[in-house]
Amino acid sequence: MTRRNIALFGFMGTGKTSVGKMLAADLDLQFTDMDLVIEASSGKSISRIFAENGEPYFRSLEKKLVKELAMKSGLVIGTGGGVVLDEENINDLSRTGMAVCLMAEPEEILKRLEHDGSRPLLADGDKLQKIKSILDKRKHLYERVPVRIQTTGMTVKEVSERIKSLYAS
Ligand code: S3P
Repeated sequence: MTRRNIALFGFMGTGKTSVGKMLAADLDLQFTDMDLVIEASSGKSISRIFAENGEPYFRSLEKKLVKELAMKSGLVIGTGGGVVLDEENINDLSRTGMAVCLMAEPEEILKRLEHDGSRPLLADGDKLQKIKSILDKRKHLYERVPVRIQTTGMTVKEVSERIKSLYAS
């Protein structure tokens, strides 16, 4: 049986990976974390790709991977937070999957990412200010994803259950 994918969009720290893993386990789908696939295939961390090859190169890797994943089925796809920068990515993943965008308040995102050093876009300076400013620039892009869930104050299980009921309907 062909089972449609679930594509999780959203800013860094909105829970794409933790929710995606729970969903995949519950629905017997396969979880694919786009950042991890890119790191494995390029043999470098995302931070090194940004530093050595630049962001546009990283975005081209993302776009190529989106095209590959959109041809598959039975996946829960945890996209990178910047996948929405290219509208074609949202369209591609929506063709074969249910697209859901996880949202969270900047203060909540800060709590979740406070001690994280793996996101080059939040690497230096005041983290909260950076989160606010990138979120501000991207808000309209996340809003292009038709289904959005505000996750602030919700547990991973609650978010996952909400998506499960949408997937079943
Ligand atoms: C990015 C988000 C990251 C990763 C890269 C860029 C972004 O993924 O792809 O650091 O532009 O928002 P997560 O959303 O999984 O942290």
